[in-house]
Amino acid sequence: MQFQWYPGHMTKAKRQMQEDMRLIDLVIELVDARIPASSRNPDIDELGKQKSRLILMNKYDLADESVSAEWAAYFREKGHHVVGLDARSRAGMKQVTAVIMEACKEKMERDKRRGILNRPVRAMVVGIPNVGKSTFINSYAGRACAKTGNKPGVTKGKQWIRLNKQVELLDTPGILWPKFEDQTVGLRLALIGAIKDEILNIDELSLALIRILVSDYPGALTGRYGELDESAEPVKILEQIAVNRNCVSRGNELDYSRAAALILDDFRSGKTGRITLERP
Ligand code: G4P
Repeated sequence: MQFQWYPGHMTKAKRQMQEDMRLIDLVIELVDARIPASSRNPDIDELGKQKSRLILMNKYDLADESVSAEWAAYFREKGHHVVGLDARSRAGMKQVTAVIMEACKEKMERDKRRGILNRPVRAMVVGIPNVGKSTFINSYAGRACAKTGNKPGVTKGKQWIRLNKQVELLDTPGILWPKFEDQTVGLRLALIGAIKDEILNIDELSLALIRILVSDYPGALTGRYGELDESAEPVKILEQIAVNRNCVSRGNELDYSRAAALILDDFRSGKTGRITLERP
């Protein structure tokens, strides 16, 4: 399967981000905890090289906890601060503030030595589409002060959301594009739903997912869909799932596409379990 990304306003977005970078001290980068590498655009390392860096491994609730711990260690090794997060809940937000302060400690001390007092740390949220940027800004800042979505005309000048005395957040997140170095990256982005399904072959995608699950998470499919021979060919497993779930079309024939869509939906919503598709 070929995956393609339509760049659209990529260059413009990058230029905008370069400008915004000059205004901030800290880059808060959201990645998807199920594919922490494939959901990043490494350009951010260049764009934000003078800045403090915080990586939020979002959708932590859907990812495999033990693999997330490996990824967190990997990112820390690279000098980043890391927090695993479910941006929809406010639960992890206290921890985020603490880590932001930690990440900017040096800068605050530098300010103090220069006699600059009480200048808040300024931060900006970046990430690829659908990774949870708006959700994070909303639940972190509270619905009252954050603007949702990319509504044109909402902001002309820069707007800052004051989180507390010490931290301000740029209200519009920076959008990065995923980087398709190889087809595996495209496949993983498609599996988590970061690429529109309309341009994908759902049947093939589900077979790829089945292949990954029987190898890395044996028992996960059986746990969800009842008795299956997980050692069978992926297409046979898809067939068994269609049978077990009674996916039949009008002529009483097995409806593979319905079974395929079901497998993808269940995986994406976490019903198949907490699964991570790549390891550091
Ligand atoms: P973006 O600004 O980066 O493009 O992403 P956005 O916040 O719009 O979030 C994309 C989708 O991901 C939303 O679902 C959102 O609810 C979901 N999401 C964000 N953070 C998390 C998380 O930590 N865990 C889980 N499980 N989901 C998360 P949606 O289907 O587009 O909308 P809805 O179902 O919330 O209505």
